[in-house]
Amino acid sequence: MILDPQELMNLINIDLKKTKNIKELEKLKVKYLGKNSYLSNQFFNLRKLFLKEKIKYSAILNQLKLEMQSKILERKKKLEFLLNEKKIRKENIDTSLSGRRIENGTLHPITTIINNIEYFFLHLGFKSVTGPEIEDEYHNFSALNIPKNHPSRSNKDTFWFDINRLLRTQTSSMQIRIMEKEKPPIKIIVPGKVYRNDYDATHTPMFHQIEGLIIDKKINFSNLKWIIQKFLYVFFGKDVKIRFRVSYFPFTTPSAEIDIMGNNREWIEVLGCGMVHPNVLNNVDINHRKYKGCAFGLGVERMAMLYYQISDLRYFFENDLRFLKQFK
Ligand code: DAH
Repeated sequence: MILDPQELMNLINIDLKKTKNIKELEKLKVKYLGKNSYLSNQFFNLRKLFLKEKIKYSAILNQLKLEMQSKILERKKKLEFLLNEKKIRKENIDTSLSGRRIENGTLHPITTIINNIEYFFLHLGFKSVTGPEIEDEYHNFSALNIPKNHPSRSNKDTFWFDINRLLRTQTSSMQIRIMEKEKPPIKIIVPGKVYRNDYDATHTPMFHQIEGLIIDKKINFSNLKWIIQKFLYVFFGKDVKIRFRVSYFPFTTPSAEIDIMGNNREWIEVLGCGMVHPNVLNNVDINHRKYKGCAFGLGVERMAMLYYQISDLRYFFENDLRFLKQFK
């Protein structure tokens, strides 16, 4: 051994103190620990020694190497700290300045209405599911027993991509998708966007529906009636006047539409419902003698307009903050 380890440590300490940045430190690391460093040479020379000495000196050299590495790391941290301090000083952060206020956003009124409706049905044991907005002809129409010449299929009302694919016109398409996938009993609601080619004070090309479907062994119209009534009483308050009116939908029989009495003493339709048509059950291989089903579909915007007493549906989608801020 030529150099005393302590002496070597003194040398590196002096050199380390002189380093002003990481780049200089890297150079120093090469000088003391690199391939051509004094230390590496010493390691190389070990092989000339006898075993006993070899063991002794390699322990010393390894210890020295560790110490040097830790000193270099220590210096690195110090340099980084100094650099950071300098940066902060330069940026001149005034920590006494009070922060900028971030305004909280709110849920869109349509989202709030959907959440409220979901909340009610989840409490009754329904599961909430969603499905594709780009549908095929089969799920949106044919499987739902909607005849080939039905006006709702026309180009005037429906956004078709090609002869098979379209933007779904109703969430009822999910009745089929769920029944194809799951075995009864089924008890679901499906909130989601639907699309129709309409635009005026009470129609927008995109709007929201919530579909409901129950399939079980002993489902009858009174079950459906109870659920709808209960829902409307909870949603609009117990003084609301409700009317069940006979109606027609291809996928339910019997079918009904439900009206509620508006402020102007006129009946307003709020949802459609009925007992699932046997043809629909057949289409999804559910035995209509063993299982019965009831379904309903409601328009979310219609509910929101009545709930908040808004006369023009288009306000909901114009993103005017003066309108939206009223729903905090
Ligand atoms: N899909 C119907 C529509 O968009 C609404 C509807 C009516 C859904 C009756 C149903 C139902 O599930 O049973 O007008």
